[in-house]
Amino acid sequence: MHVYSDKVIQHFKEPKNVGTIEDANGVGEIGDPSCGDFLRVFIKVEKDIVADVKYQIRGCPASIACASVMTELIIGKDLDDAMMLTEDDIIAALDGLPEFKIHCSALGAAGLQKAIIDYFEKYVHRKKA
Ligand code: FES
Repeated sequence: MHVYSDKVIQHFKEPKNVGTIEDANGVGEIGDPSCGDFLRVFIKVEKDIVADVKYQIRGCPASIACASVMTELIIGKDLDDAMMLTEDDIIAALDGLPEFKIHCSALGAAGLQKAIIDYFEKYVHRKKA
């Protein structure tokens, strides 16, 4: 019996949207001090829509699956919806995570939020200033 759902295993074996975005307009980095895992998220925003998301990760299988499914949930969404993505949304999209791996979903959600905040700081606040 697998500890992980089929979806977690699929996303871990073939992670979606791995890589960088050359002309990203938001980048977020987050690490988990308890395990040393690390995620860097790149977003490309066009007309308030998240047109593309990619990431680099050094992490456990669950964190890789979470980052991968996060990109699938977010591409094509507007910034407000993207900002609202929670760890629970990520876990639900993976058909659940074992209790001891719940914390791994935090990297995907927090990395995305940091990338969106970076975009706002670089482009939206500057326009208003
Ligand atoms: Fe570190 Fe999964 S054990 S994020």
